[in-house]
Amino acid sequence: MSGWWREAALYQIYPRSFQDTDGNGIGDLEGICRRLDHIADLGVGAVWLSPIFRSPMADFGYDVSDYRDIDPVFGDMAAFDRLLEETHARGLKLLLDFVPNHSSDQHPWFQESRSSRDNPKRDWYIWHDPAPDGGPPNNWMSNFGGSAWEWDEHTDQYYYHAFLAEQPDLNWRNPDVRAAMRDVLRFWLDKGVDGFRVDVIWHLIKDAEFRDNPLNPHYDASHPDIDRYLQVYSADQPEVHDVIAELRAVIDSYDDRLLIGEIYLPIERLMTYYGRDNSGVHLPFNFQLIQCAWNADAIGSLIHEYESALPEGGWPNWVLSNHDQPRIAARVGEAQARVAAMLLLTLRGTPTLYYGDEIGIADVDMTEEEVLDPAAINEPGVSFNRDRSRTPMQWSDKPVAGFSDGKPWLPLTQDWRERNAAVQRQDPASLLNLHRALLHIRSIEPDLLSGAYRRIDMDEDVLAYERGASIAVILNLSSEPVELSLPDKWKAARVLLSVRSAQALNEVPANLAGAEGVILKIKDAE
Ligand code: GLC
Repeated sequence: MSGWWREAALYQIYPRSFQDTDGNGIGDLEGICRRLDHIADLGVGAVWLSPIFRSPMADFGYDVSDYRDIDPVFGDMAAFDRLLEETHARGLKLLLDFVPNHSSDQHPWFQESRSSRDNPKRDWYIWHDPAPDGGPPNNWMSNFGGSAWEWDEHTDQYYYHAFLAEQPDLNWRNPDVRAAMRDVLRFWLDKGVDGFRVDVIWHLIKDAEFRDNPLNPHYDASHPDIDRYLQVYSADQPEVHDVIAELRAVIDSYDDRLLIGEIYLPIERLMTYYGRDNSGVHLPFNFQLIQCAWNADAIGSLIHEYESALPEGGWPNWVLSNHDQPRIAARVGEAQARVAAMLLLTLRGTPTLYYGDEIGIADVDMTEEEVLDPAAINEPGVSFNRDRSRTPMQWSDKPVAGFSDGKPWLPLTQDWRERNAAVQRQDPASLLNLHRALLHIRSIEPDLLSGAYRRIDMDEDVLAYERGASIAVILNLSSEPVELSLPDKWKAARVLLSVRSAQALNEVPANLAGAEGVILKIKDAE
């Protein structure tokens, strides 16, 4: 089996929040360059950057106005070239965030498209006449609240935007759009980037007839608008797989590149994104752990369901948090965030770490007035405020946690003086050192990379599994100690690592303290 990405752990950087070098309080490419040693030292294999392209920043870079240029807030193309070189020099791969579903409304393509009904680029976006009552063409809702249709007075039609009105959806049924976007991929691949995470890939194709979505019987006012209807016609259409296969063909025309799709769908639908004969994305992002209740039973069932649903040749992957979701430490607390790290890095498949999770950044205090996330501004109190998961990386106890010389664009978390990378590097039992140890063990134990996953039944608070013949993992998902009744071959095992100490242990414990976990190396397999 080929593919570096089966072995590498991925590390997501939200560039605005990693390291600022020009004092404007916003991270930049030069800053990422300066911090590459932190990433290499952690032991991951690849870095994925959230969008760095030219953008009016209505959605902080997920609204691209030039797919082939770097936004000045992050630097310029020379800074990018240097970052790519420095990343590769450390043996790391670099992945970009490709945002093909929509552009910015400031993109020249959209400017042309909206200029007149007969402009050659009119059909590059999705334009429709009003419904007979003069209202929006159908009931599709924006993911960021309200109708997904925006009225354009100049040409007397509506355009479709699955996100902000400043993010009009491109028409992927138009072959010229597809060709232009394939060229964008080639532009970056020719530069040497190692692949892409593709934003909202399941959205690319919409129902050809634009039929109304059915009502969601479970909707109530505590949910965002998007949940009013089931997304039956507005996304996840069968033809999307042809588009993805075309993108994949571009990727495959280069050596060893990776295509990841951002997909929020139930497991059964998610699996279709591996594509027929694996012609889809290499990795359809698996967000199941983010949505799962934090107990052994729920997590165990979900791993089973996911593993059993994988198509032949489909490689698994796992994600715990990202820039759109609550951070793992905010969700399950610090002690269980340590257990979560052992889980993430011992499951079968490619893990993705989110910057800051390696030091356990949790929640931030913010007032309503401070909120910048457009989703949370549009639907306050209903939509998760994503700013909470995008606060600056905490490097040291120097001013602004070593992130910037200026005022950071988002606040630091309260505990930054104690919770930062410099402090944790000195503490052998820190979460940072736990991550380093986990990634190291993962890299030297072949069964952790590719050994089959098999769950072993234990106490109801314990999640235990074998990986191949040589590794066992036991995790206590509760805060209370549990007594273990272990198979004999596990009792005689070596303890490679404990969650609580971030060290090896001398013997296999008979009881597992609350939020403790261990990796065992089974002796007769040595
Ligand atoms: C994806 C991104 C999110 C963005 C949205 C629109 O879900 O992860 O941050 O707001 O797409 O591009």
